[in-house]
Amino acid sequence: MKISSKLLNKTDFTKAEIVELLNADGDSCSKLFAVADEIKREYIGSKVYFRGLIEFSNICSKDCFYCGIRKSNTNVHRYNLSDNEILDAARFAYENNYGSLVLQSGEIGNDQFAGRIENLLKKIKALSDDKLGITLSVGEQPRDVYKRWFDAGAHRYLLRIETSIRQLYRRLHPDGHSFENRLKCLKTLQDIGYQTGTGVMIGLPHQTVEDLADDLLFMQSFNIDMAGMGPYLEHEETPLYAHNDVLWPIEKRFSMALKMIAVLRIMMKDINIASATALQAIDPLGREKGVKVGANVIMPNITPGMYRNDYSLYQNKPCTDEEPAQCRGCLDARLALADSDIGYGEWGDSKHYFRRMKK
Ligand code: 5AD
Ligand code: FES
Repeated sequence: MKISSKLLNKTDFTKAEIVELLNADGDSCSKLFAVADEIKREYIGSKVYFRGLIEFSNICSKDCFYCGIRKSNTNVHRYNLSDNEILDAARFAYENNYGSLVLQSGEIGNDQFAGRIENLLKKIKALSDDKLGITLSVGEQPRDVYKRWFDAGAHRYLLRIETSIRQLYRRLHPDGHSFENRLKCLKTLQDIGYQTGTGVMIGLPHQTVEDLADDLLFMQSFNIDMAGMGPYLEHEETPLYAHNDVLWPIEKRFSMALKMIAVLRIMMKDINIASATALQAIDPLGREKGVKVGANVIMPNITPGMYRNDYSLYQNKPCTDEEPAQCRGCLDARLALADSDIGYGEWGDSKHYFRRMKK
């Protein structure tokens, strides 16, 4: 396929066309990136929205083969922020005009956890005069729990499918981790009324470009409102580390992640796309590069500094020594370089969501 300005109006790619776009290099790749950037500016503008990310606990009941904080990794120092620490971080986000925050943790499924989150949501809404938007990212939960949290003020939810290819999903997770349940959770979230986000890891062992094309088609057919995708980064203390011999070089995982963002932007013109922190782990300007090729959301880490090192999903996670205030100055400067304005104090909701709800 010739990558031309005709791409601007196209949304319905075949799998073969997507594969071709993902394999683009040289001038074709630059063209792809330029088109994605143009589409973003035309459909949703040039603002980047912040979601202050609070990684409030790394205690996890899951055992995913790729993840550094999996339950079987006994080398991790487990932590759980106090409610006051979480509320202080939320206040920081509010006072610094971040507009929204994300509460993320390992997956815990019990009543006490459900009640704790519900209570925190209400307190965060109260301390910010209802002005902070809140995204949750705390895994697979029963419908009634998702509903309680929605009613308490969470309006967006992130649950990555990790890969849309069932067989690959099975290779990445132990028995008992169910692809079907993850799908069911995503449907439930949409049904309850959340702005629903999902995403995949890019460059997993045994993953092909065809698989990634299917991932993009999955997100389109699922009609998601938000996406977060990043390169897979190996972690020594996980079982998947044994498959390092089949990994793509890190540069390829990085460039493929940028191309995934660009193609998704062309396919789904008005969704929100986050520029993943994992991009920054490879290239100090990785997240800004994501913004230049179609992403419009950045999740600055506002977890108190002393806990950051312990939330190591992958190795060499960036910014683990910084405090939230340092991150802010750093991001302001760098986003200016990416020709973007920051939507300070705005929720920056997914336009796609409102279009979906009208139908
Ligand atoms: N490399 C990249 N991303 C990872 N995640 C977990 N482990 C890794 C890894 N080794 C991602 C998963 C999860 C999100 C919170 O972090 O996609 O959904
Ligand atoms: Fe964290 Fe710059 S974004 S220090």
